[in-house]
Amino acid sequence: MKFPEGPRSPELIQTIELITNSLNYLERCNQRYGDIFTIRFLSYPPSVIVSNPQAIEEIFTADPKIFNLEQGNKILPPALLGANSVIFMDGDRHEERRRLLSPPFRGERMRVYGQLIFDITQQIISQWTIGKPFQVRSAMQQISMQTILRAVFGLNEGNRLQQLENLLTSMMNIFSSPWRSSFLFIEALQRDLGPWSLWGNFLRTRKQADELIYEEIHQRRNDPNLSGEDVLSLAIAARDSQGQSMTPIELRDELMTLLVAGHDNVASSLAWALYWIHRLPEVRKKLLTEIETLGSHPEPLEVTQLPYLEAVCQETLRICPPVLFTFPRILQAPFPIMGYDLEPGTLISPCIYLTHQRPDLYPEPKSFQPERFLAKKFSPFEFFPFGGGNRRCLGVAFAQFEMKLILAKILSHLQLTSTNLDSIKPQLRGGTLAPSENFYLIPTLK
Ligand code: HEM
Repeated sequence: MKFPEGPRSPELIQTIELITNSLNYLERCNQRYGDIFTIRFLSYPPSVIVSNPQAIEEIFTADPKIFNLEQGNKILPPALLGANSVIFMDGDRHEERRRLLSPPFRGERMRVYGQLIFDITQQIISQWTIGKPFQVRSAMQQISMQTILRAVFGLNEGNRLQQLENLLTSMMNIFSSPWRSSFLFIEALQRDLGPWSLWGNFLRTRKQADELIYEEIHQRRNDPNLSGEDVLSLAIAARDSQGQSMTPIELRDELMTLLVAGHDNVASSLAWALYWIHRLPEVRKKLLTEIETLGSHPEPLEVTQLPYLEAVCQETLRICPPVLFTFPRILQAPFPIMGYDLEPGTLISPCIYLTHQRPDLYPEPKSFQPERFLAKKFSPFEFFPFGGGNRRCLGVAFAQFEMKLILAKILSHLQLTSTNLDSIKPQLRGGTLAPSENFYLIPTLK
């Protein structure tokens, strides 16, 4: 089988490079081999990485039947999400599950979540102490985790919410560095060597979180007055085309998927947005001036319509996309692309990061310029932080809505300063690209 060219170094070396030095490794491959190349990752088929917009259009608009994501996504951690997650489904089953999970994430539902997101943010920022630095990524994780638990799970303040938040945060923090992240992707490392080992600790924390999730599922399933509009209530009430309801295991796996997919990426995106806003005083000034036009108590929907705020969020997702690649798609049929005839079994993945770094699309790609999104509308094959085609992120409207409200709330209530922005580096954390752990901001009075 003939693959596009790519680095010849052994799989192990390529895997280490991709995990510990992702951006540099991808950029080197791109410079040397162009916008289609093959990389080799330990225990996976050769992976064809694409960053050419025409080729990406061909992938996103192809018949979904020619891709298998069940196998492709085995790269992602089934141990974390569970094998019944929507991301491991294909064909009619996938379509049906998406239909079932989508209603709470549609644009019109956002109205309900707005005030809740404002309140959660306000509550968390009021715990920050003036003059005392806080770690930005974990503070943003706290906000996005509470948002998802309350808006999506429908949990109200109380013991179970608090316990679940603590357990899920500890579970995600287990994979907080690049080498620890590698446990999620390399099956051979996933050995339970007791509670003090990394994987053993993960399995035990996950078990405790599962127990709480099952308790909540059980309680809701037995609630004769179930009427909530959160995902859990809707998923419990939903029936598939055969009239079957979802089993507790299926419900658990979908909830875990939405929790993990729905808070980690948002937290990293918010941390990156705060990084750029504080790195570039003129961006911060423009943003504040725009937010202040809405007065001291803006409506959530008004905030989400601010054009410069929207451009800042888009430029953040362009320059630091928290997810570097779309899900890997494994070909089920021959697929001609960019002069190569790829054969069934090949893994193909559009690279979000490299496409967003193309100087022909984004002149001076390393420079943060929200104005590019005010001057031009990019196609879904040029700008796709949320992936594309039939797998496009289910939470796209929710994530963008959340980012804008949280940022506006923080910036309009506090002045934040930093002393070490030069030393902050991108770092793989779990499955997402986040600013390194030394990113702190200091709240000062406005
Ligand atoms: C800034 C935040 C987010 C980013 C950057 C992001 C990015 C992505 C990407 C790149 C994919 C893969 C798409 C593909 O392969 O074409 C994806 C899938 C998915 N995302 Fe998100 N996501 C975010 C937030 C969310 C939120 C808030 C939720 C839900 C609460 C969510 C739920 C999902 C689900 C369920 C899928 C799987 C879709 C499927 O397999 O059909 N994501 N996301």
